[in-house]
This record gives sequence, structure tokens and C-alpha cells, in this order.
Amino acid sequence: MDIAQAAKELKKIHQEHVLRWYEDVSEPQQRQLLGQIGELSFSKIPQWVQQYVKGPGAIQLPESFEPAPAYPAQPGPRQAKKYAEAVELGQNLIRSGEVAGFVVAGGQGTRLGFDGPKGNFPISPVRKKTLFQIFAETLLAASRKYGARIPFYIMTSPLNYQATVEIFENAGCYGMDKADIVIFQQGTLPNFGFDGRILMADKGRIATSPDGHGGSLKALYVSGAVEDMRRRRVEYLSYWQVDNPLVKLIDPLFIGLHALDRAEMSSKALKKAGPLEKVGNFCLVNGKITVIEYSDLPDAAAMRKNADGSLAIDMGSIGIHLINRSFIERLNAGGDFLLPLHKAVKKIPCLDEQGKAVHPDTPNGVKLETFVFDALPLASNSIILETLRQEEFSPVKNAAGADSAEVTHRMMIERAAGWLEAAGLSVPRTADGTVDCALEIAPDFALSPEEISARKDKIPPIKPGGKVYLG
Ligand code: UTP
Repeated sequence: MDIAQAAKELKKIHQEHVLRWYEDVSEPQQRQLLGQIGELSFSKIPQWVQQYVKGPGAIQLPESFEPAPAYPAQPGPRQAKKYAEAVELGQNLIRSGEVAGFVVAGGQGTRLGFDGPKGNFPISPVRKKTLFQIFAETLLAASRKYGARIPFYIMTSPLNYQATVEIFENAGCYGMDKADIVIFQQGTLPNFGFDGRILMADKGRIATSPDGHGGSLKALYVSGAVEDMRRRRVEYLSYWQVDNPLVKLIDPLFIGLHALDRAEMSSKALKKAGPLEKVGNFCLVNGKITVIEYSDLPDAAAMRKNADGSLAIDMGSIGIHLINRSFIERLNAGGDFLLPLHKAVKKIPCLDEQGKAVHPDTPNGVKLETFVFDALPLASNSIILETLRQEEFSPVKNAAGADSAEVTHRMMIERAAGWLEAAGLSVPRTADGTVDCALEIAPDFALSPEEISARKDKIPPIKPGGKVYLG
């Protein structure tokens, strides 16, 4: 886009001020600004301003919704046969190279306050392995187990792309083949002041922020990652969030149930800890699985009980999905694919009218983002598989308290202890039942409790207060 064109397009949407300081900045900055302007969705911005910036931007609660059905974590007698079939199919799909790992790691991790990409946060209890290292080693162990390549797709934001690439390079890709690691960037959306004007980060740069984890469905396509999957004949993407080291990355049961039911996008879910737990709620809306955010679900609906006293809407979303390549291709076929926007009122550093930098201490504008679970109702079919919190979910979100590294650390130790005990080994515990040692099971030692049983004789006795690394 050249300057004349940019000026014309911006005028049409009443955002001429974006070029206000164009003549004051260097040539490279001018080019950068024109590049950013070229990426703006001119046809959509006026409506975003009306709906999200000046308007409430609230998501419309569907007129009627009911609890979504889910496959239970443990099959009942009627499901046992299907589960066994699913595990076999899932294993075959992994063996034939049709499954890849995909982590969304473009978040800003503001709550954790860690310097650098969150994936580089050290979390494992004994060796202090980082989140990225745990994921890469798990994929490598699964690829050895199944005798197949399992590529690793990693989405970053433009802000943490370079740092993420360097982390993997400096770590020798944690033992994975470099060719199996594909790191790409998500898109961004402009930030707006409350008056509807696009904010400027500096004189030659629009203030933008990453377009949310929902941006992954477009970024996978435009970055060429989907094309890469097609070349490798990968059909299923196992999706997870960067902050959850407990996730079972490559799960034959989940993959198999998803494939047997011909689903295009599926989810794992947890039984909610209580009616008002702050997780998305899986519901059925017009026959489609849909996530209703906790903030949008009226308390009365959240509290509703079944006849037996159990919670009616009890499946919580934990950011673990399977997504088909063909689904992503279908969504992007029309070009410029965008999921519904969500509005967040934030403090956004920017320039004031005089071109002076402002670091507000109260909110001064609106950021827009998209959520990946909003793609679920677009899938022709979708399943939910219940999983157990202690086995699969402990996100590192905060520096202290709930969802902090300390909690995740403890959960990792508890899970490892549970796996050893299930194999008949004894683990020291204090009087209140807490595990009394630091335990870490490396992915290449065991990916599941069953694999611990098979290697029982290699595990030394564990002393109270000890540190044990099985790897
Ligand atoms: P969170 O909602 O926890 O956001 O992201 P965050 O940005 O990481 O952390 P806070 O809110 O600033 O403290 C959930 C997952 O979605 C990814 C994150 O990296 C994390 O894996 N994500 C989030 C993206 O990949 N891109 C985004 O734009 C936002």
C-alpha cells in the first residue's frame, strides 16, 4: 500500500490521524507503518468501533442452552468396547504419522510476570525443565514409542517470536529434529481509544495486540503451517496451552473417539470444582457444542442441579482440543477468517494528541481478541472427553496463590506419586497424606502409569524428603 492509498482508505473509516506523524519518522518507520495499515481490516473497523469500542460488545447469551454430553473419563460397561476400539484407532493414526502437536504460546503472560516467553518458565520439580522442554521431550518420547514423526507446531505472537526461536535453537530443539519444529506468528488487531480512534504506540507504529488464541485458526493457514501439515499428511492437531505441563499431549483415546465420531474439532473437559468456577462451560446450543464463558453464564443457570443433586452444567473447558487440518482449511477457504471478537478494557501505552508518550494508570482503551473455542459450533461434529484434574490440568497463570507455579509443582509431584503407587510402589507421605519427596518422571521414562508398571524394577526405593528423577 502506498501513502496516497493509505490516506484514502483511512479517511473512509475516519482514522486519518494514523498518518499524522508520517512525515516526522524515518523511511523504514514509514514503510513499517504502511505495512501495518495494509493489514487493517478496513471493511470491519467501523463496525468494531460501534459494537465493541463505543458499544458494550457483550456476547449474546443464546435463548436456550443445555448441558453438553461428554464421554466420561472412565467408560461404563456400555462404552468399554468403544473406548478399546478408540484407543486402537488412535494408536494407528499416531503410528501412521497423522497426528501433530500444537501449542499456543502467543500470550503475554502478564499475570505470571515472567521475563520472556512463558514456555521458557522452569517448572519440573527436580530438573527444573521448562514448559517447552517438557512438551518437546514428550513429543519425542511419543514419536519413539509409536515409531512415527510427530511434528511440533508452535504459535507465538510477533512480540515473542524471535525469543522463542532462539530458545529452541539454543536448546538444540531439546533433542527433536529441527525439521519437525515449526514456529510461526499469530496476527494482531489494532487497539482503540474509547473515542473509537486507533491508538498509536509511537509516531510510526499503530498500537496492536495479539489476536487471541482464536487467531491460531487463521495463523496456521496463512503462515503455511497447514500446507506443511498437508505435505506431511498430518490430519489431526493436538492443541494445548503453553501453561499446562500436565497435559497428555498425544492421547490415543481422545484421538480415537474424535476420529470414530467423525468430529472436526473436539475438546477435553473437567468436572467443574463448583458451579461458579471460572472456566468456560460446555453447553449444547441448537444441537452444537458451544462454550459459554463463566462471565456470560447467569448464576441461576450455573447453579442448576440434576434430580440426583449433581451440577447440571458441569463440564469446564481447559484449552485442550483436537482440530482437523481439513476443518482449518474449510474455515479459511473464504479468506480473512475471523472468529467472534471479545472486548477487553485495558491500560494501553500510547501517544497523546501532542505525540507525547502516555503510560496510563487507569484503563484508556479497548483490546480485541478471539477465543479458539468459538470455533466449536462451526464444526460439523464435535465430542467432549472428560479428563481428571489431577492427571491433566494445572495451568501456571499467577506468580502466587491459585494457579501458581507452586501449585503446579505440587500437582506434578502428586501425579508422579500416583503413577508409582498405581504400579504398587511405595511413596513417602506425611501424616496428612502429602507426598514427602520431590519426584519427577521424564517423558522418555514413562508417558503413562502403565509404562511405570513395565519399568518398576528400575525404580529405587524413595526416602522421605528425597529427590528422585526417573529418566
Ligand atoms: P491466557 O488467557 O492465560 O493469556 O492464555 P496469557 O496472555 O498467556 O496470560 P495473561 O492473561 O496475560 O496473564 C491461554 C493460552 O493462550 C495463549 C497463551 O500463550 C496460553 O497458552 N494465547 C493467548 C495465545 O497464544 N495468543 C494470544 O493472543 C493469547
